[in-house]
Amino acid sequence: MNNSEKLYKKLIEYSQGKAYPFHMPGHKRQIMSMEDPYRFDLTEIDGFDNLHEAAGILKVEEERAARLYQSEETHLMVNGSTGGVLAGVAGVTRRGDRVLVVRNCHTSVYHALELNGLKPVFLWPELNEELGIYYGITREMVEKVLEKNSDIRAVIFTSPTYEGIFSDVKGICEAAHQRGIPCIVDEAHGAHLRWCQLPDSVAQGADVVIQSLHKTLPALTQTALIHLNGSIISKERVRRMLGTYQTSSPSYVLMASISQCLEWLEQESAEAFRIYEERVMALRKKLEELKYIQLYTPDELFDWGKLVISTPLPKLTGRQLYDELRDTYHLQMEMVSSKYVLAMTTVGDSPEGLKQLESALDEMDWFYEMDAMAGALIAMDKEDAPEEEEGKKIKTFLVPEQAMNLAEAVNQLKENIPLVESGGRVVGEYIYLYPPGIPMLIPGEVIHVKHIEKMEQYLAQGMEIHGGYDKETESISVLSEMK
Ligand SMILES: Cc1ncc(COP(=O)(O)O)c(C=O)c1O
Repeated sequence: MNNSEKLYKKLIEYSQGKAYPFHMPGHKRQIMSMEDPYRFDLTEIDGFDNLHEAAGILKVEEERAARLYQSEETHLMVNGSTGGVLAGVAGVTRRGDRVLVVRNCHTSVYHALELNGLKPVFLWPELNEELGIYYGITREMVEKVLEKNSDIRAVIFTSPTYEGIFSDVKGICEAAHQRGIPCIVDEAHGAHLRWCQLPDSVAQGADVVIQSLHKTLPALTQTALIHLNGSIISKERVRRMLGTYQTSSPSYVLMASISQCLEWLEQESAEAFRIYEERVMALRKKLEELKYIQLYTPDELFDWGKLVISTPLPKLTGRQLYDELRDTYHLQMEMVSSKYVLAMTTVGDSPEGLKQLESALDEMDWFYEMDAMAGALIAMDKEDAPEEEEGKKIKTFLVPEQAMNLAEAVNQLKENIPLVESGGRVVGEYIYLYPPGIPMLIPGEVIHVKHIEKMEQYLAQGMEIHGGYDKETESISVLSEMK
């Protein structure tokens, strides 16, 4: 049997298995269907338009998407938000520009910086240290950076985050626009917002907005949209870059899935989203009553569809919660971090799936209580937990020193050295957990002993570190030092 047969077989087996998906894609393998895709797997032939110069049937879909999202111009994408970020950043900036980048951006943003030789001025969001979740950024934070750096040519940030946290997109766009600067918002996790009465970035004035349809809506993996608005950007340049960063043979299966999704949004979604909100709110209410399982509920407006689940029991890590949910209850989470797991709900979830999660967490809560009473887990219930100062936001604590610009660092000679000996060296590759794909270190930054400790902590918890760390040799990529 060759490898493709093995992969195909494995996918079929997985799809027939018991695991319930609290992860993307948003259709959850249950609310959409298609005929055998081989029957209409084609690319640009007569009568089927050309994605890179849409004027016919694809143009109609793009206009429909623009109408639905109330955008001046929208393009279909088949290379995920990744392709959109690469095209958006390249289309809005010029080689070597200085750009404001909020540091919890996805790796695709860093790749765009590299490819265009951009000089980033990083803005670090504040951190909820208890969970390790970044808060959103405010207009004031962005204004401060723009005031100090009058040569910034674009503002690039993510909203909402993986965990559903918003930034003040409207305020940030106003502040940037007053200075003639465009805003690129990575809204990969927000294609559904408009239908959940949550604020979306097109409505709030962002110039370029990139959305993965596949993450939160019923559409196939890789499907995405890019919205272009306003007169600060050259839409023509972004269009040109979409041609650069997307395949010249776009899949009509994927574009048909976008078409199906748009049709569904137009015709059937209102009731589906109403029921979805009702079900998730009921689930959140139940989970909030648990004692040893905690559901994160931010004070500010957030995407309630993202369930960030943790436990105050200090002996239990995110990884243990994740494994237990998967192995004992057949619930596959979207993401694990050292302190929490993320269950991603979407309009594609069934009531049975949501109930399964509720019952599992309810049972786990009961077991944890029994264990805590027996002293097996060091008990620290919600009442005993140290009181948080109201509204206290702890500053991010792992801000690295930058020894060399990213675009320059990626082209240097590199070597691998033991992680434990790497303090003080300049890192040669990105260091990140995936998901969420937010780098802890980027090439050109200095490895601090605190980064080593953090990485060791992740590894001890069974998490995988991607990029420049090699787990076989326990070594990390660093820039070679001049002899
Ligand atoms: C914030 C963010 N931006 C962009 C991406 C890339 O999206 P895609 O997988 O659609 O290429 C991701 C992927 O997880 C993401 O989390």
